[in-house]
Amino acid sequence: MLRKIFPILFIILTFTATAQSQSSKMYTFVAELMKKMTLDEKIGQLNLLTDGGGVPTGSVVNTDVESKIKEGKVGGLFGITGVEKIRRAQEIAIMSRLKIPLIFGLDIIHGYRTTLPIPLAMASSWDMKLIEKYARTASLEATADGLNWTFSPMVDIARDPRWGRVAEGSGEDPYLGSQIARAMVKGYQGNDLADKTTLLACVKHFALYGASESGRDYNTTDMSRLRMYESYFPPYKAAIDAGAGSIMSSFNEIDGIPATANKWLMTDVLRKEWGFKGMVVTDYTSINEMINHGLGDLKTVSALALKAGIDMDMVGEGFLTTLKKSLQEGKVTQKEIDDACRRVLEAKYKLGLFDDPFRYCDLNRAKTEITSTDKKAAARELAVHAQVLLKNDNNLLPLKKYGTIALVGPMANNMDMLGTWAIAGIPANAVPVMTGIKNAVGSNVNIIYAKGANITDDSVLARNAQVFGKKFEMGDPKLQLEEALQAAAKADVIVAVVGESSEMTGEAASRSDISLPASQRNLLEALSKTGKPLVVVLMTGRPLAIVRESEIANAILLSWFGGDETGNAVADVLFGNYNPSGKLPMTFPRNVGQIPIYYSHKRTGRPNGDGPTQKFRSNYLDASNDPLYAFGHGLSYTNFSYSDVKLSSSRMIKGQALKASVTVTNSGNYDGEEVVQLYINDPVASVTQPVKKMIGFQKFALRKGESREISFTITEEDLKFYNNDLKRIVEPGEFHVFIGGSSSDTRKASFILQ
Ligand code: NOJ
Repeated sequence: MLRKIFPILFIILTFTATAQSQSSKMYTFVAELMKKMTLDEKIGQLNLLTDGGGVPTGSVVNTDVESKIKEGKVGGLFGITGVEKIRRAQEIAIMSRLKIPLIFGLDIIHGYRTTLPIPLAMASSWDMKLIEKYARTASLEATADGLNWTFSPMVDIARDPRWGRVAEGSGEDPYLGSQIARAMVKGYQGNDLADKTTLLACVKHFALYGASESGRDYNTTDMSRLRMYESYFPPYKAAIDAGAGSIMSSFNEIDGIPATANKWLMTDVLRKEWGFKGMVVTDYTSINEMINHGLGDLKTVSALALKAGIDMDMVGEGFLTTLKKSLQEGKVTQKEIDDACRRVLEAKYKLGLFDDPFRYCDLNRAKTEITSTDKKAAARELAVHAQVLLKNDNNLLPLKKYGTIALVGPMANNMDMLGTWAIAGIPANAVPVMTGIKNAVGSNVNIIYAKGANITDDSVLARNAQVFGKKFEMGDPKLQLEEALQAAAKADVIVAVVGESSEMTGEAASRSDISLPASQRNLLEALSKTGKPLVVVLMTGRPLAIVRESEIANAILLSWFGGDETGNAVADVLFGNYNPSGKLPMTFPRNVGQIPIYYSHKRTGRPNGDGPTQKFRSNYLDASNDPLYAFGHGLSYTNFSYSDVKLSSSRMIKGQALKASVTVTNSGNYDGEEVVQLYINDPVASVTQPVKKMIGFQKFALRKGESREISFTITEEDLKFYNNDLKRIVEPGEFHVFIGGSSSDTRKASFILQ
């Protein structure tokens, strides 16, 4: 009956009932199992180990892993790859008294064996369907190789490009970051965690890791709660609302208490306020690192972590070696241990590991699905969409498919383009830009290659940036430059591929100077003096300070680290097989002194306004306040012209919505895609508000000559902000609406909220 009258309600009720019965089944199963477990076995489940087979990201790796597994002292392993190895480890786990399976994790950050663009690059696509596919592609491959847990997505808001880990996230904006967090969780987890092709997501690093002081990795963070809630928390919350099954604590402290021991964060906010029911794992030895923070000895910090709400201890074995004693001494309770153990077991249950511990160990899948052609095709599609055209004077790009190109620069024929965290990647599969160009143009274009410069001539930087990967090939700078100039002399156009090496961004890869290394700056200077048209392709994992380069280059294409297919994707864009559509998810500063720099800043009591520096205003004597390239900036080979903003009404009645629209016309010569961005500003409020705050965007394709009206619905919810009691409120009065193709290029309209 109900089904007939209210079909949707019926579906919702059935769905809720099924979910409830599944979760009560899980509850009963886990409770029964825990009744059989000894205290040692429960503590064993809280122990996450690595045998160092992946990339150790701290100074410690675990020993005697095999015997610990047999004794039931291990809940999960990370850093091991390959079905056979994983199956072997699982077989050992199944030999333990209660046969509890292990969970297998890895940093699957941007692809698995097939390396996809780095996350910051993918964020530049502003394309949520594609980002979901990005995560899905990785999970298809990684689950085919035995894994079931990824330490991704990294959703830390980052506004300081000195921090090397900006490469792993989605940039500076909480709205964009939240959309991406959702898409990634959906892509990894799908609708059913027990499906053999889905991975358990681990949202990280909770919380505020991206706000490390001075951009130095692992450094202190300190910020107001208002800013946490307004700007830094939303992506974590969005990922959790999307159903992320696990979360990782961050290394940094918050309000003087490291996140890993921060009960306010891990219990009050995460569990009580946000209703998170999944598992919390620490970062690598972050319990032990609290000894260095100055919180006490291993027993003390381990107890603090458990009491804060941590379930699993990564690598440090603090839980394993001290919790029993802490329980005897009354420092932790049995319930705290039980709760943590239950959440670890529930994660395994959701993954279907109790039904079949080997469900992800299918050798046949490993053989057919890893590095398959569809993965390669996805890698190219993703890399193509991740690129951002920063500058294109006189429509220098796309290049013609004839003539002579001088292809120069240390990244032009280099295979180091996978970027940070390509642990399982296969460097030999990377397609260099030179190969990509040859693939695209065959023999129609004459390519003269010259390396032109070393990545850096600075021996200290070179040493520090070659810990893991391929070693730099260092040549004679003078000779290299001469070769590049000779190539340029014979060419119609110069394509200079410059930037950073993979290891110059990522974990423990902060830089205090984010300009291009001097060797490459000199190369570009010399090339520009030839008077030949100069196209710069920028391969990097962070925004760089490239003011001078942006003056002397005629065109700049930001390719980021695009993964395996970088070379083909760069060629696709350079020669116009694809019209670029990426937009910056993070501001490019003019210099390090402007950092932190982000579009959504406050106004201050003495705003400088547009134009030159004025005395007694908030500004610099030696630089403007404006960024080099603003958040949301990105050009196309075509032009998009915008009409004025139309509002459906000049008044919004509380509780009702309002429509804001613009007509976008493709007035150029190519079909293309545009990302229309919607920002608001609340000019008078009881808590100061940013000059602009993004509340929506839409990406769509427009054929040349075509126009389309793009509408956004603005609701009261979009106008809310946090007050000093951390309540989201909305206040009546005037609001400004901005719509455009970049945060710095918008049209404005206003309305009154009544
Ligand atoms: C340390 C990193 O901070 C974290 O992101 C990563 O997941 C772990 N190491 C495990 O490799």
